[in-house]
Amino acid sequence: MRSSSAPIRDPQYSLETAGAPSRTPIVLRPASIEDVDALVALEDASFVADRITRRSFRNLIGSASALILVAETGGRPEILGYAALLFRRGTALARLYSIAVAADAAGRGIGRSLLKAAEAAAFDRDRILLRLEVREDNERAIRLYRSEGYRPIGRYLDYYADHMPALRFEKILRGEKLFDSGVPYYEQTTDFTCGSCCLMMALARDVSGFELDPVMEIRLWREATTIFMMSGPGGCDPYGLAVTAHEFGLDAEIHVSQAGDLFLEGVRSLEKQKVMALAQEDFRRRAITYAIPTVVEPFTLDLLRAHLGKGGTAIVLVSGYHMFAKKVPHWVLAHGDDGRHIIVHDPWVADERGESIADAAHLPLPYTTFDKMARFGRAALRAAVFLSPRRS
Ligand SMILES: CC(C)(COP(=O)(O)OP(=O)(O)OC[C@H]1O[C@@H](n2cnc3c(N)ncnc32)[C@H](O)[C@@H]1OP(=O)(O)O)[C@@H](O)C(=O)NCCC(=O)NCCS
Repeated sequence: MRSSSAPIRDPQYSLETAGAPSRTPIVLRPASIEDVDALVALEDASFVADRITRRSFRNLIGSASALILVAETGGRPEILGYAALLFRRGTALARLYSIAVAADAAGRGIGRSLLKAAEAAAFDRDRILLRLEVREDNERAIRLYRSEGYRPIGRYLDYYADHMPALRFEKILRGEKLFDSGVPYYEQTTDFTCGSCCLMMALARDVSGFELDPVMEIRLWREATTIFMMSGPGGCDPYGLAVTAHEFGLDAEIHVSQAGDLFLEGVRSLEKQKVMALAQEDFRRRAITYAIPTVVEPFTLDLLRAHLGKGGTAIVLVSGYHMFAKKVPHWVLAHGDDGRHIIVHDPWVADERGESIADAAHLPLPYTTFDKMARFGRAALRAAVFLSPRRS
């Protein structure tokens, strides 16, 4: 990887490095054009090839889609290290393009401080993931990344000038404070029970005595499933989830952008389509019987935020394309709003990508990112089931 400042003492980046034995405090700040000479010197001393050029440093410092942070000693300005971030437009990704610390300042915690400040800066810019590449033989940097919670997501062969492969790492950014709505997290134990797991999590907070376990996961799935979805066992549909939520003691409200049968276009077999349509008709009839309000129009972010603001939760359909690059419908549970993000429990933990529950629970998704994710398929189907504790 590779990657840019005026002496702004933004308190967020102004920190003394942990573990630095009472030396002059280190200050982090965005780089400015006056820093280019020092950055080039540091770059030349830190890397033997694939160096960032003077021109590139200038461009990065002037670019709205990059940020270079520099570390300097408070008293005697001298650049001891830098971290460069790239922000790809239209995505929720940030990339740590480069990081380096001067050899005579190494091992004092400056690299770690730069990395943390880079994460905070990316989070502030509404990025949910920070990715980076590192030479496979760079044990020192790899140890730093691993210790800060980065997980390996791949390997590029022949990536550097000397043909050394690069390891790719990624970290989900979640800011300093964890939003706690009191909704417990539950990881789905099958590929197809995301909807029922979202419902379970909502029930666990709002219905006393409700217990989360795999037996209940399957039971709720059986009650709310449309039988098939795409291929194989089916996922849940919004009407089925709302009817089941009602039967288990929650108030439900359905928001769906289109009337009629859902998810049929991904199913090739006519017989499967027929069964799905019948199951959905049954759910719609029962929703009417239970007087479950149904709004046939795409819900807006403001509407969802108002609902969450009243302490409700919402099972929201998202495209798996955004979450794990698969074009499958997927349900997540929105359970909080911190003023900039919708807080989500995603029941799917991507073990194959080295994720843990910490990567899937309490995910702060910036409003615009969430808004983009919350639609599925060519028709941009928008569906959510708003849930609240039973009123009477
Ligand atoms: C990688 C680099 C940025 C780390 O900066 P640093 O300021 O020395 O690192 P820190 O003092 O913050 O230490 C952070 C962690 O890095 C690792 N680390 C630091 N020095 C190390 C050493 N000599 N040997 C092994 N690991 C080391 C440790 O995990 C350390 O954590 P710990 O002190 O809690 O054990 C720095 O070594 C560097 O500039 N290297 C050359 C450029 C480079 O390789 N950049 C990375 C490109 S992907």
